[in-house]
Amino acid sequence: MSRATSEDHSGSAYDLATPEADLDLVAVGKGTRGGELLRRYWHPIAVVNEVKDVPVSVRVLGEDLILFKTPRGEFGLVYPRCCHRGTTLYNGKIEDRGIRCCYHGWFVRHRWQVPRSAVRA
Ligand code: FES
Repeated sequence: MSRATSEDHSGSAYDLATPEADLDLVAVGKGTRGGELLRRYWHPIAVVNEVKDVPVSVRVLGEDLILFKTPRGEFGLVYPRCCHRGTTLYNGKIEDRGIRCCYHGWFVRHRWQVPRSAVRA
């Protein structure tokens, strides 16, 4: 077995051009082909025991979101900015049916109804 020297790169990938990513396959942002496909499926985004009554920042398919659990045991996954003036909901107060903005008090309902089978501890 011989080792390649710095001049002899035969058998190695050092001289190969860097491959370009096929954005149709790897882009998962909103509006991309991959992103629109993947948004049709459930994804594990957190461990259920880590989601409590304090909002948690999560990044799902390139989107920053806020995840929380209401006192009724329902999970919420919402856009992190208040729809009133755009302050962060990360400091919001979690209530029975959603999260209340800490600035002017607008209320955002939790977005998703998560099936019980998906949140077993
Ligand atoms: S910015 Fe959230 S209620 Fe005004």
